[in-house]
Amino acid sequence: MLTQAPKGTRDILPSEIHKWQYVERVFADICKSYGYREIRIPVFEHTELFQRGVGDTTDIVQKEMYTFLDKGGRSITLRPEGTAGVVRSYIEHGMSSLPQPVKLYYNISAYRYENIQKGRYREFHQFGVEAFGSKGPSIDVEIISMLNMFFEKLGLKNVSLNINSIGCPKCRRAYNDKLKEFLSPILKDLCDNCNARFNRNPLRIIDCKEDRCKKLTAEAPALIDNLCEECREHFEGLKAGLDNLNINYNVDKGIVRGLDYYTRTVFEFVSSNVGTQGTICGGGRYDGLVEICGGPSTPGIGFALGVERLLLEMDSQNISIPEPEGAYIFIATIGEKADRYAERLVYQLRENGISAEKDVMDRSLKAQMKYADKLGVTYTVVLGDEEIESNRAVMRNMKSGEQKDVSLDSILDRLKNNL
Ligand code: HAM
Repeated sequence: MLTQAPKGTRDILPSEIHKWQYVERVFADICKSYGYREIRIPVFEHTELFQRGVGDTTDIVQKEMYTFLDKGGRSITLRPEGTAGVVRSYIEHGMSSLPQPVKLYYNISAYRYENIQKGRYREFHQFGVEAFGSKGPSIDVEIISMLNMFFEKLGLKNVSLNINSIGCPKCRRAYNDKLKEFLSPILKDLCDNCNARFNRNPLRIIDCKEDRCKKLTAEAPALIDNLCEECREHFEGLKAGLDNLNINYNVDKGIVRGLDYYTRTVFEFVSSNVGTQGTICGGGRYDGLVEICGGPSTPGIGFALGVERLLLEMDSQNISIPEPEGAYIFIATIGEKADRYAERLVYQLRENGISAEKDVMDRSLKAQMKYADKLGVTYTVVLGDEEIESNRAVMRNMKSGEQKDVSLDSILDRLKNNL
């Protein structure tokens, strides 16, 4: 127990961190070029925020949240996603008075008590963006195009974009009646969860993961066929924008999304490679959420992308990410005087951004050289009493085998200037 990470969590080890840092960098660069600014939100929030924001008929709120009472008796929940926290922050910091749209991005861990599978964990990571204040479809196109560009820059192939519209409260009301009419005769054959959701949020039933429910609801009326005029126009605008940028998409009437806050546009980027968890990224518009959470009526849209799933997908497509270079130079020493000199020299080198190592294990010279070899350094220098006295030493290029007799004072300049 003590030496095993809790189920559903995993360490990101030094041997793989370069992959994380690489995708983080590419994502941040794209966000910057699109004018999105980073926001960092707390790992935990008041439970009520997620109950209201994510919605208390969702699987996330009903089954998956890490909720506990803190020592002050407050109900606290580890964030199962980022949108609700970002919305809370938007309201708390009066961001509605800033020039709109307010465009934010984040890189967070998130927590859901889920059954573990490949690509599905209890602690996972998301890159996400949220844009507030714009109600037309242009911002939907912008947000989706960011993802398209991200996958392109990473060299990812075969990731398909599925889009749908789940309407606004106006068309949803009329649709719900139609849906209930369809569901009523089969209700007794649906799972308990679906039955419980029938009156409060029948749309959730279409997203039930149980096989029998999926089969029985396959022919249910789709929201997209029952949109009001404004929602239909919005969806047409989205499609025209995607066409304009040559971004391929499929209209998938079945996308409902697992969170309650969505209105109008919803979308997912899906791959067949990430095991059963093919959805790398999901998002959509949430025009009512800011108000539901206590803020002024403000349209919003965003997405979140599962970083673990992204890396799994990149791995399965054999996209290699170059590992960073290790130490550049190793200063091997014999005796205390040389060791003191090396201490100062590696400090200076490091100060100048050159990755340098010296012995800190009291190793013999032979063992130091073996270690330097394992580190894969480009240069080695051996210092003993003689070298310190004469102020000269041999600098050996381990890659080419070339050796140079150099003055000790010149080592820093040589490396700095690549001589
Ligand atoms: P979501 O669909 O719940 O949406 O999650 C987004 C992505 O997070 C998923 O597509 C998946 O890649 C990843 N993900 C979710 N759960 C897990 C898990 N247990 N293990 C590994 N990866 C997982 C949201 O979270 C919304 N906040 C997205 C959004 C932002 N909508 C608007 N703005």
